[in-house]
Amino acid sequence: GIPSQVRIVEVGPRDGLQNEATPVSVAARVAFVEALVAAGLTTVEAGSFVSPKWVPQMAGTDQVLAALPARPGVWFPVLAPNMQGFLAAQAAGAQEIAVFGAASETFSKRNTNCTIAESLERFRPVCEAAAAAGIRVRGYVSCVLGCPYEGEVPVSKVVEVAGALAAMGCYEISLGDTIGVGTPLKSRAMLEAVAGVVPMERLAVHFHDTYGQALANILACLEAGVSVIDAAAGGLGGCPYAAGASGNVATEDLVYMLDGMGVTSGVSLDGVLAAARLITAELGSEPRSRLSKARPAI
Ligand code: HMG
Ligand code: MG
Repeated sequence: GIPSQVRIVEVGPRDGLQNEATPVSVAARVAFVEALVAAGLTTVEAGSFVSPKWVPQMAGTDQVLAALPARPGVWFPVLAPNMQGFLAAQAAGAQEIAVFGAASETFSKRNTNCTIAESLERFRPVCEAAAAAGIRVRGYVSCVLGCPYEGEVPVSKVVEVAGALAAMGCYEISLGDTIGVGTPLKSRAMLEAVAGVVPMERLAVHFHDTYGQALANILACLEAGVSVIDAAAGGLGGCPYAAGASGNVATEDLVYMLDGMGVTSGVSLDGVLAAARLITAELGSEPRSRLSKARPAI
């Protein structure tokens, strides 16, 4: 049945900002992360150690980490696609990194300039070095319900890549519907297939909301027992290498649903809404969430 308690992984400062046309200053990114922590989020993805030529929006992630004081029980994971990214993350004091692979060959090429097999070979030494340094590693699988280039993605490929990441030592695997094409029954079937190889307790779901299916997909996955959910305040998000993808499920809309179902997340609805308004004001826009429209700022 539905877990009584879930953990929300806030990806707004990374997924949410990596695709924005307006560059956001380090100070504004730090203020956004702080507002999210104040709202009760205990895992806030703070940025990426990727090539600034590929994703200029995430440059300065070292400065973001440096400005965030350590707090017990609060994690600030950062993306690291290779050893160069891992070493930079480690030097910046990261306690947790995330490697990101894909279930689609073409997306892997477009996003990280390598095949799926090559990406896994790059992650292996990263996972080993991280384990030796006491740094946690999260793993992502992208395109779990479809690819912007290849269309349908076989569930067997998702299972294979998720299993490989778990075997390498990723403590948690986040299953990403990168382009938001999934629907509830397919989402649940995909999750259950992966749970045949990686225990459900180690799985997270990551839904983009392109077709307005994200909350429905999350509910279907909660019913299958998943208890970690990625979301971005304000419904920001997208991947520069996934054309047509829109934002992540909005954290405030997710919290509204969880609150209504009596599922504990420890996250304050008003707090997330405030964080979403803070960052979208910086971007010159407004939160894309339903909650923001239902409760306009006075
Ligand atoms: P490449 O060009 O093949 O790399 O890129 P390379 O090893 O050949 O090196 C080329 C240049 O990049 C060199 O610099 C390196 O120093 C530099 P140059 O000599 O030309 O000046 N470089 C780096 N710089 C900084 N940090 C690094 C790094 N590595 C190499 N770590 C690479 C390969 C993976 C680096 C590139 O493709 C890249 O940065 N990709 C990042 C793409 C990305 O961040 N995408 C968005 C995140 S994934 C996502 O959004 C999906 C997710 O949300 C889940 C979902 O929704 O499904 C997670
Ligand atoms: Mg994403």
